[in-house]
Amino acid sequence: MNDLDPLVTEARAEFAAALTPADLENAKARFIGKSGRVTELLKGLAALTPEEKKARGAAINQIKQQVEGALNARRSELAEAELQEQLKAEALDVTLPGRRRGEGGLHPVSLSIERIEAIFGSMGFDVADGPEIETDWFNFTALNTPADHPARSMHDTFYVEGGHLLRTHTSPMQVRYAVQHVKRHAERETRGERVPEIRVIAPGRTYRVDSDATHSPMFHQCEGLWIGENVSFADLKSVLGDFFAAFFETNDLNIRFRPSFFPFTEPSAEVDIAFASGPLKGRWLEVGGAGQVHPNVVRNFGLDAERYIGFAFGLGPDRLTMLRYGVNDLRLFFDGDVRFLSQFKV
Ligand code: PHE
Repeated sequence: MNDLDPLVTEARAEFAAALTPADLENAKARFIGKSGRVTELLKGLAALTPEEKKARGAAINQIKQQVEGALNARRSELAEAELQEQLKAEALDVTLPGRRRGEGGLHPVSLSIERIEAIFGSMGFDVADGPEIETDWFNFTALNTPADHPARSMHDTFYVEGGHLLRTHTSPMQVRYAVQHVKRHAERETRGERVPEIRVIAPGRTYRVDSDATHSPMFHQCEGLWIGENVSFADLKSVLGDFFAAFFETNDLNIRFRPSFFPFTEPSAEVDIAFASGPLKGRWLEVGGAGQVHPNVVRNFGLDAERYIGFAFGLGPDRLTMLRYGVNDLRLFFDGDVRFLSQFKV
């Protein structure tokens, strides 16, 4: 049946040209659909004699089967192609390294404060924490700095509503801690017994209206207080000397007390250190303030100023961190740049 053969060839070609299942279904309709060419041929059988019908019918059916075969073959080809496409798109390379969870680390100043706490802890100092929003009493008045005292202008204070302020130093913690301490031991006092020594540090955030390469409106301080019956400036010097040696891991440094003034200590001093070697060799660097606690402040602790005496100091953990790591701009600590901060990850 040579006149029918080209039909199969044509159908194969059209099926092959169909690139999507929808195209293929359209091509199918053109050959074996309701009015497709093969279907039309079958309809034409009606006009033939019974013998002709038999022979012609068999030939057309054969053609139809071939067309159907070609259609099914192309269908599975397209399905396979679609599957491959999908597999390719959803390919998962199991040999790629996994995504790791971002790992944080402590801030360099936090690392310093941890060191400070550990070192003073080993010398028998308690660690205390207190409010950053303070009252005028604890921040100034109780520290021998009454409202009209010119020393108040040493601090550019952030005042907040309700007569409160952001503490300008950690010194209010001297009073807060000492008052609690004295309360805890009130019975001993009334029996005339000795109140146990106060030995505490209080690290934390402090605030002043100040901002440049070495000053930030928020900065850190670490208060220290040691009160007893016989605590002297010599003890202060040895405590701070031991602390700096441990903090900087060197005995190669000198410590100097430079006369100064604070209303709550008398005498008062600025504390300077100088390294005997290294990049900062020989330069005096201010790292804090200190002094013998003023009798008025001892009285505000609730203690007999004739009996109890001692010293207080305030260190700058930000400054200590800069010196320890060789950082020259304080603002780097508070910009929150991960490229800077991640260098301190331990
Ligand atoms: N509070 C003082 C300041 O911020 C430092 C200081 C603390 C001085 C304790 C003496 C004693 O400047």
